[in-house]
Amino acid sequence: MRVVVGLLLLLLGLCGSGAQGEAGGLGEVAEINQNTDPKDAAEESTEQTTKQTYPDIWTELRALRDMVVELNVHMELLQRENSATELVSLESRLTSSESRTSDLEKENADLQTRLSSSESRIDQLERENSEKPKVAFYTALTDDGHLGPYNTDITLKYSKVFTNIGNAYNPSTGFFTAPVKGVYYLQFTVMGLNADNTAVSVYKNNQRIMANWEQNNNMIQKYLTNSLVLELTAGDEIHLVLPSGQSIYDSSGNQSTFSGSLLFTL
Ligand SMILES: *[C@@H]1O[C@H](CO)[C@@H](O)[C@H](O)[C@H]1NC(C)=O
Repeated sequence: MRVVVGLLLLLLGLCGSGAQGEAGGLGEVAEINQNTDPKDAAEESTEQTTKQTYPDIWTELRALRDMVVELNVHMELLQRENSATELVSLESRLTSSESRTSDLEKENADLQTRLSSSESRIDQLERENSEKPKVAFYTALTDDGHLGPYNTDITLKYSKVFTNIGNAYNPSTGFFTAPVKGVYYLQFTVMGLNADNTAVSVYKNNQRIMANWEQNNNMIQKYLTNSLVLELTAGDEIHLVLPSGQSIYDSSGNQSTFSGSLLFTL
């Protein structure tokens, strides 16, 4: 395209200067004709020459004009072709951009779907988590030393309550009450001191489910420890019993303890 334009300009330039030169020549010739005697023989020949030159110049000018017109047409065609090619390439680029955009839109929609489902899942988990009951207790029996022996079984009321999340353990009754259906972990340790025979039983809803004992075997301190994993329903009660004739010891050292927690709900 640039070559064509350059060529055109060159041609126009040439044409312009040629025409000017010719015009100057014509002017001079006309002047000569005015200021001299037309009947002069020498000038006759000059006039003859000028007459011969005129048609050539006009023919040439017409030819040049035609060429310019032709070149213009040609240039327009080239421009049109060029812009058509550009249009085709733009169209193909647009098409590929559009398909990429629709791909991205699809991906975006997928991601949004996944995000909103994740968000609702998180909400649900947060709700479940906040609604999930928290149950954990840890107690020790007494600071008063020896308890027992008595001639009846007595419920052990662990009076030093160190942890009682969910308030499922009641120190005034010594009962642990399951607040929800679930699996619970329970653990206890009892200490016997000096000549004590020591023992402890576990009750669920006033039914014994475990019996432990440790006879006096001339050891100063005796320990019993055991644990349970129980499936309980809401309202089930657990308590520990000191059997008749047995004795248990606790002090500020927290040797006799009862603790438990909810592992998970069912
Ligand atoms: C008994 O347990 C309580 C609570 O954990 C604690 O403050 C106290 O110091 C313990 N007693 C001894 C002698 O460690």
